[in-house]
Amino acid sequence: MFINNWYAACVASELTQAPVKVRMLGCDLVLFRDQAGVAHCLSDVCCHRGASLSAGKRRDDLLICPQHGWEFEGSGRCVRVPAGIKDPAAPPRKARVPSYPVEERYGLVFAFLGDLDEAQRPRLRNILPEYDDPDGWHVGILSRKKDVNYVRLAENYNDPCHVHYVHEFAKWLPKGVTIETLEQTDTYVKAFHAAWDAKGAISPDRGLMMEFDVIGMVSRNTNKQPGYPATVVVATVTPIDADNSQIFMLLLQPKPGADGKGGLSATDHQMLVTMTRDQVMDEDYAVLKGTKPSQAASPAEELLVETDVTLAQARKMTLDYAEKFGEVDAQALNALRDTHVRVLPCPGHRSEPGQWVHKTVPLKASTGSVVVAA
Ligand code: FES
Ligand SMILES: [Fe+2]
Repeated sequence: MFINNWYAACVASELTQAPVKVRMLGCDLVLFRDQAGVAHCLSDVCCHRGASLSAGKRRDDLLICPQHGWEFEGSGRCVRVPAGIKDPAAPPRKARVPSYPVEERYGLVFAFLGDLDEAQRPRLRNILPEYDDPDGWHVGILSRKKDVNYVRLAENYNDPCHVHYVHEFAKWLPKGVTIETLEQTDTYVKAFHAAWDAKGAISPDRGLMMEFDVIGMVSRNTNKQPGYPATVVVATVTPIDADNSQIFMLLLQPKPGADGKGGLSATDHQMLVTMTRDQVMDEDYAVLKGTKPSQAASPAEELLVETDVTLAQARKMTLDYAEKFGEVDAQALNALRDTHVRVLPCPGHRSEPGQWVHKTVPLKASTGSVVVAA
């Protein structure tokens, strides 16, 4: 589980002004919206005596701790201590909890979990421009929790060949594919998996366009079949902890044009959403829950073939990013869980070190990130 990345925290429409608790990267976080509707993400652990802030209330733009009523802004700073100090409006300097940058994209709330300042922070790519065309596209949003490691789940969206074998609905699809990597950076890959036609020739109009971006752990699959409207699937995977993940999936299909032609009806689109939720995701899970090792494997312990090239690229760029920007030591964090509080580093840890009650999570020794003490 690596820090300094954007992770989808929840579905935007499900975040109201009531606080919501979300576990990401092994730590508890609280999300809430202020009066203007702006979403905030804070550590869920109160810096006073450790109560869960998500069990509190939002009042005006403030999050109120359920235990002694300390009042926190979206910045994480406590602005009022109602009892126990001489001047309630002058809390101690360390009266603050980490606050994480938030951005809403494609109907999801993403939080940046890390200490990079704004200038260094990677940007979420607009991998789904269709989302901004509601007249042109049906959009379905699904969210599921699975007890599968997040890299394993993310790889599944860059593995074209499992589709023919695992998924009932796809068994008719042509099985031969040829992969052409169209674009690749340190964090992004785009490849076209062209299907073969009946004569064994590559068909550029038929196949699967696959994209993966480490930033946000976002995969996009665009399925092209002659005579059938394009189907776009965007999936993002968030580690709850090393063994559990939250998947958010968007399913898009074109609406009929103004003349009523082309595209799909809302009913037909809803059939795809329902089938994905009730069948397709479970078909993947039935296999992935038993795959060994439970975390991403070394290539030396697998026999990868031609069509595994995109998932192998995606895995490598994910592991390289973790090495460069900091990976949580999940074992060490678990050993501390019952007796200590550890929080994910936020930009404030870097800009104002030494001003925090809770220490940051242990990171694996090989990582190059700045490790900031409380
Ligand atoms: S534990 Fe939060 S105000 Fe006391
Ligand atoms: Fe699948």
